[in-house]
Amino acid sequence: MNVLGISGSMQANGNTAYLVKQILEAVTETNAEATCEFVSLGGHYITPCTGCLQCREKKECVITNDDWGGIAEKMAECDVLVIGTPVYYYDICGQMKNFIDRTYSLWHDRRLSGKYVVTVAVNGDTGADRALETLEGFANAHEFIFAGSVIGKAFLPGDIKDDTAALENAVTIGKKIATLG
Ligand SMILES: Cc1cc2nc3c(=O)[nH]c(=O)nc-3n(C[C@H](O)[C@H](O)[C@H](O)COP(=O)(O)O)c2cc1C
Repeated sequence: MNVLGISGSMQANGNTAYLVKQILEAVTETNAEATCEFVSLGGHYITPCTGCLQCREKKECVITNDDWGGIAEKMAECDVLVIGTPVYYYDICGQMKNFIDRTYSLWHDRRLSGKYVVTVAVNGDTGADRALETLEGFANAHEFIFAGSVIGKAFLPGDIKDDTAALENAVTIGKKIATLG
């Protein structure tokens, strides 16, 4: 079983990355045969969808001069996707939005259909619910099977380590998805 964890934060080792990795660690501890990979969108160059609609014919994104394709290929190959975002203005962050919008090219042939998904959002105070709704909109459109969500509360770098409820939820969901796929 392949589990792919993606953090949309530009902070490669930020709070969102930490929470996503906690889930992956719980998977590995529960199922030694599971293969887990973590990808931070931070440090990757991902340009916005231009809305050219060429993917409707070509079934692939015509933008090839950035890092989106390599990460999308990992997503197309995973059994379980753990997708996390920091909350920016009560919603997902821009880098995650760029990443998701480009997956329209995978939608035409339903290349993500039937995979499991766990959604993660980290906010300093408020907005995580709405960010999760956005991630769930992405997941529903692609026909993912919803396997749970985790909300973290953290403002400054590292604050997530103090959100014991979120860390416990991450472990619980990690154990659950370890047996899927
Ligand atoms: C541009 C920007 C917008 C933000 N908007 C919100 C917000 O609407 N609500 C909130 O509670 N926190 C907000 N925050 C705080 C982040 O969600 C918080 O710092 C989070 O822990 C960052 O996660 P990261 O370390 O994974 O990047 C914002 C932070 C930034 C930089």
